[in-house]
Amino acid sequence: MLNPIKLASKNFLSSLDTSLEEFIHILELAKNFKNKDLNIKLKEKVLGLIFDKSSTRTRVSFQVAMSRLGGTTVDLNPTTSQIGRGEPIRDTARVLSRYCDVLAIRTFKQTDLEEYAKWSSKPVINALTDLEHPCQALADFMTIKEEFLDFNDVVLTFIGDGNNVANSLILCGALLGVEVRIACPKGYEPNSALIKKAYEIYKNKNLLKITNDPHSAVFGANVLYTDVWSSMGEENQKDEKEKVFNGFSIDSDLVSKADKDAIILHCLPAYRSKEITDEIFESQKSRIFDQAENRLHAQQALLSCLLQ
Ligand code: CP
Ligand code: NVA
Repeated sequence: MLNPIKLASKNFLSSLDTSLEEFIHILELAKNFKNKDLNIKLKEKVLGLIFDKSSTRTRVSFQVAMSRLGGTTVDLNPTTSQIGRGEPIRDTARVLSRYCDVLAIRTFKQTDLEEYAKWSSKPVINALTDLEHPCQALADFMTIKEEFLDFNDVVLTFIGDGNNVANSLILCGALLGVEVRIACPKGYEPNSALIKKAYEIYKNKNLLKITNDPHSAVFGANVLYTDVWSSMGEENQKDEKEKVFNGFSIDSDLVSKADKDAIILHCLPAYRSKEITDEIFESQKSRIFDQAENRLHAQQALLSCLLQ
């Protein structure tokens, strides 16, 4: 029977906090959880959830994952806790980690997440920051693995904003040796420091391409992925971005240029007729709801390792 392993890193703040072997092991565990081949109980363990931004999938999938593992969660609302009144992260982290066994935090700045991790005596998980969304990427690559036998044969094209989701796809792509192409409007490229890190990791540097041309980027691709054009916290840029991102929608024209068996992914929530057309979102090619389901299995696997 496959067992959870103790990860070398205490925390999961970034997609690079796991080695390649650990990442593959988590995906394998996730598959076993999904197939109900694993019955791991972490009795009485408590996950603390701190969400400074909205969430449906991440919050609920963590709650259900802990329930399936025999543990429980506490959901801290910043506005009704002292967090919203400005209690320092270093105090909140020291207190919560005396009650909870693990913390999952969704916040704006990656440096704030790192501050929680610094002061918490228990593992801290990145439940999304402006910089990365590593739990989403675990589910994304689990979904890709369900379709394609070998990551080395996969071309993953992300079309849209070079945001947290794109950053995590790049880092995981580098780790796994997946060809990743990012097509975004000029000025909306992914984080340059993370691109640099990814190039350092890729054995074949030609496998990562950042372009402003969605048509060349989708050519022969196996996976087409998109996300909202304006992320949480960017609401004031919405009108401007809708103009700039014109031509970066996943529509039937772009899909026709990809591999004939290409699948469509979206981390959700989606804005139809913006980053993706309704036709493509609802098409046979979409694996969007498998991808959403896989958040649960991937996080169950991650938690079972972090709580070793
Ligand atoms: N994909 C994702 O993280 O969704 P939520 O914002 O609903 O958690
Ligand atoms: N890029 C999006 C992802 C939402 C799950 C955001 O940060 O709002």
